[in-house]
Amino acid sequence: MRTVTWDPEIPSVRMIDQRLLPEELVLIELWSPQEVADAIRQMAVRGAPAIGATAAYGLALAGQLSRAHNAQELWHDLEIAADILRKARPTAVNLSWALDRLLKKAHTAIEEGPQAMRQMLIEEAQRLADEDIEINRRMGQHGASLINDGDTVIHHCNTGALATVDFGTALGVIRTAHEQGKQIHVLVDETRPRLQGARLTAWELDQYGISYEIITDNAAGYFLSRGQVAAVFVGADRVAANGDIANKIGTYMLALAAQDTDVPFYSVVPTSTIDLSISSGEEIPVEERDPTEVLDLKLKGKPIAPKGSHARNPAFDITPNRLVTAFVTEVGVLRPPYREAIARAMKETQTK
Ligand code: MRU
Repeated sequence: MRTVTWDPEIPSVRMIDQRLLPEELVLIELWSPQEVADAIRQMAVRGAPAIGATAAYGLALAGQLSRAHNAQELWHDLEIAADILRKARPTAVNLSWALDRLLKKAHTAIEEGPQAMRQMLIEEAQRLADEDIEINRRMGQHGASLINDGDTVIHHCNTGALATVDFGTALGVIRTAHEQGKQIHVLVDETRPRLQGARLTAWELDQYGISYEIITDNAAGYFLSRGQVAAVFVGADRVAANGDIANKIGTYMLALAAQDTDVPFYSVVPTSTIDLSISSGEEIPVEERDPTEVLDLKLKGKPIAPKGSHARNPAFDITPNRLVTAFVTEVGVLRPPYREAIARAMKETQTK
């Protein structure tokens, strides 16, 4: 089942409301770019590739809703919608990447008029979504060779079907190894404060029949230091040209512990997550979310902190390239030095 789809009849964007999982599997329908942007901001849909595909459908929706009679008017409406969608979340570059890709495509049809542009937007959004699944499958094949039969691996956040259009990135690698018949055990970081690991990754692993246990984020270092972990697998929301990565908060500490214990640390990313315009991780914008996400957690129905407590809630952190053993991309496994390896990989995707 796809995380996000286009309904041509209405038209609308349909998606799984990830806020309600694992208790309920509910589909929501979105009728405007503003609703799509709100769904991204409120994390009804989350995960870099899923956000990108959703934004693409949001822009296709803008094309359908626009009353523009000529190409120039439509282009103006598309730019406004793209701006609203772009601002929904700042860190995952797939959002801007998808919008720019659709805008570029629509621009090629300006001479043909607004109807051609509208049609092109829908087709390009569908293509982007289909490609996402194909790319994930390819990353799965490349990455599965990094997992041996009998391995226990640590996984952070959710990078599965829910974080993409389908199949997943880091979790896609784990799924592929499982499909190849390897016995794998996954230690699932619960991933505070939104608990994408405990809620979403565990829900997915249950369905795939892959063995797992949920651990507190703080416990990862313990298992690594005991020699019980063969590898760490994460995704990324943005990779800088030098290989520094922004990923879910907690990734940096996990990478530090992996390095200290000599455990390989892999980041599985489609090339759409690589941002060559950003030289190093320092320049990546890091989203800081509402402190209530930290403070509203309850323990046995009771608030976890004294009333009136303040909190900080960065949603991502930056892991320097020196802590990344390798990247798994759709064009293969990239090893250091990353600036060169990444540049080569990006060139390869452009010539395809
Ligand atoms: O805040 P989220 O849940 O959108 O963060 C998601 C992550 O950090 C994932 O690791 C990343 O997007 C890669 S998902 C394939």
